[in-house]
Amino acid sequence: MIQTPRALETEVTQQAGRRRTFAIISHPDAGKTTLTEKFLLYSGALLQAGAVKAREGRRQATSDWMSMEQERGISITSTALQFPYRGRVVNLLDTPGHRDFSEDTYRVLTAADAAVMVLDVAKGIEAQTRKLFEVCRARRLPILTFLNKCDRPGRDPLQLLDEIKEQIGLWATPVTWPVGDPGNFHGVIDRRTGDFVRFTRTARGIRVAPEELVHPDQAAREEGGAWTRAIEELDLLGAVGADLDLASFLAGESSPLFVGSALTNFGVRHLLDALIELAPSAQPRADMAGSTRPLAAEFSGFVFKKQANMDRAHRDHVAFVRVCSGRFERGMTLTHGPTGRPFSTKYATSLFGSDRRSIDEAFPGDVVGLVNAADLRIGDSLYAGDPVEYPAIPTFAPELFATARPRDSARFKQFRRGLEQLEQEGVVQVLHDPDGDPAPVLAAVGAMQFEVLTQRLQHEFGTLVDLVPTSHHLARRTDKTTAAALRDTRGVRILARRDGTLLAAFESPFWMDRLRADHPEWVLESVVAG
Ligand code: G4P
Repeated sequence: MIQTPRALETEVTQQAGRRRTFAIISHPDAGKTTLTEKFLLYSGALLQAGAVKAREGRRQATSDWMSMEQERGISITSTALQFPYRGRVVNLLDTPGHRDFSEDTYRVLTAADAAVMVLDVAKGIEAQTRKLFEVCRARRLPILTFLNKCDRPGRDPLQLLDEIKEQIGLWATPVTWPVGDPGNFHGVIDRRTGDFVRFTRTARGIRVAPEELVHPDQAAREEGGAWTRAIEELDLLGAVGADLDLASFLAGESSPLFVGSALTNFGVRHLLDALIELAPSAQPRADMAGSTRPLAAEFSGFVFKKQANMDRAHRDHVAFVRVCSGRFERGMTLTHGPTGRPFSTKYATSLFGSDRRSIDEAFPGDVVGLVNAADLRIGDSLYAGDPVEYPAIPTFAPELFATARPRDSARFKQFRRGLEQLEQEGVVQVLHDPDGDPAPVLAAVGAMQFEVLTQRLQHEFGTLVDLVPTSHHLARRTDKTTAAALRDTRGVRILARRDGTLLAAFESPFWMDRLRADHPEWVLESVVAG
């Protein structure tokens, strides 16, 4: 049936309203994989969780989801996982968090509309959570917090709230609150209803668990001191105003907090429901000029991730595009913003791993994988109809640096060409020393980026490369005046990006802090650099 333009607009708006596109941010081991699996279980996409366990195998895998696929025999994509839940369409974007932590992890967050921050109740805020949170904050992304592993001994939850506020400046507003001491968890109070949700220990939560809801009066009788203490703590939270606040949540300033245990399924449904009810649906995105293209306008989107050679047999490039407006239909011809050239979407896929499934249509909030995308770069816009240019995806302050040289100097040309292409794809950042050694300095946020580069230079450009790590561990964006002042300082190296941006690389954070304290006038900007 042919749709009228008006009917199509209505459909696109409705479909966008159903989308919830989010990513999970956490430190390795906090429970992201377990929670992802439980989301699938609760959505009905998986009938049984944890069928097979092979943790060692998972450590080797290149993506959490690919490994889940291998070990549990289920098909999940390595970039975006889509499942229906209560009449909505949930897109969960993968932020690889184990050994393959890389700039990709950060970039994925630019395609999300919300995030779930998973904290281990025994550990609180950890290094990787903090880094990922910084990116969320820069985008003012709404964040839901899940305090995981409450089935085992942990820290005092009130202290954890303080820590969240102190360390990352986020105001946590508990929606559920634990009853019982750390290590002797009885369940939670749902602050919205006052009900007690009793915790029943289930072995690994293989199936969706029944939930026992207890009236507050009955809970007070049965839970005794633990209940009284929890009520006192809630009074305290009420007194300091730690109550759910939609406006500040949507502005990325406060974070509704849920308490649970992903392993035993406890609290998973509360969290998933909150995601549906509180997190924003796909909204119109601002373009470079700051204006927004309506959701119902013709198709537009931007590339937020690229992957080459996913299919060894085909040596292909896949670009992952976040849909911002309109309906995507496989086969449509789009315009590639930066070149103005047409781009055919005959091969659009939604699923990776051992299997690829073609995708026929997609709506704002969804992710489409475009095959044959060698000419597309990270941050590029694609559209049908009127042109639109979405803002560039920021590059991130690197933490690993290595000087690169081709092993065989006769292959210098291929080496240069390879670096140029891999830099465009966002595999690593290529820097140079404006006044010193002409050999390029490669920079990354994760070691895996160097491994990928080395392999691809060898296999695609026939060049073996020697990488010699430098002793620098963090970088800050700087300006010419500060760079000039820092040039001869011990433990600092000035490096430049291709576009002229200057970075000051430091050997130690303590040294940087010291220099900064002595010279507060110096420009040293952190994390997300434009
Ligand atoms: P990650 O993706 O964030 O790295 O974490 P993952 O889900 O792999 O979980 C890390 C470990 O924590 C796993 O244990 C997992 O079973 C456990 N875990 C996750 N959620 C909970 C929870 O709510 N309670 C408890 N007690 N443990 C939890 P492991 O021993 O490393 O592996 P496994 O043998 O259990 O798979």
